[in-house]
Amino acid sequence: MCAWNDDQKKGLFVLIEGLDGAGKSTQARKLVDRLRGAGRDAIYLREPTNGPWGQKIRQIAVHGRDGVTREEELSCFINDREEDSRQNIIPALTAGKIVVMDRYIPSNMAYQGALGFDVKVIAEKNRHFPQPDIIFFLDIKPEEGLKRVEDRGGANLGFEKIEFLKEVYRIFNGPGFEMMIRLDATQGMETVGDQIWNRVSPLLGKRGLA
Ligand code: TMP
Repeated sequence: MCAWNDDQKKGLFVLIEGLDGAGKSTQARKLVDRLRGAGRDAIYLREPTNGPWGQKIRQIAVHGRDGVTREEELSCFINDREEDSRQNIIPALTAGKIVVMDRYIPSNMAYQGALGFDVKVIAEKNRHFPQPDIIFFLDIKPEEGLKRVEDRGGANLGFEKIEFLKEVYRIFNGPGFEMMIRLDATQGMETVGDQIWNRVSPLLGKRGLA
């Protein structure tokens, strides 16, 4: 288990969350580009990762959950996060970098919560990982998000079925997610990007990264 205390954080940890099709990856990458353009040391990370656990998760997404219990699925996500924290997140935050993360603990709570786990239990299992300084939730209705995913070629459908997504969305809007800053993801890409920037840039000064 990773030994981490958020006091060790020298950098800044920004998280972008939302349903698939909300524009998370685009916004996370745009933010990294903008930070780098302003001379900051920023990195883009995503979960599930491309490591062994992340690959196993993607296989479940492609081939379906047949034969994989929800406990095994949850363990895969936690193991992936364990490895990501140890190899990528903690070293970057300790070195004073800005980590821009595309999905993290809230996705775990909402998606595995929709599989029937108690959201509080999932939060507890994730307590020892580095916690984000700021979390954005790019808000899009499940139907609209799914339509966008299908329009771009329909990746990820193993996890992104409409009834399941509606439950994920309901959980994302329920107790335990109050700290997220909600942005309307149906606004233009530039508008959302500016709203994120306007919230992140003041934090750089506070962390001595300005
Ligand atoms: P991606 O499309 O953003 O790569 O995410 C792949 C899927 O993984 C997505 O449907 C959300 C899901 N997911 C979980 O179920 N639990 C988690 O902890 C994370 C990080 C993602």
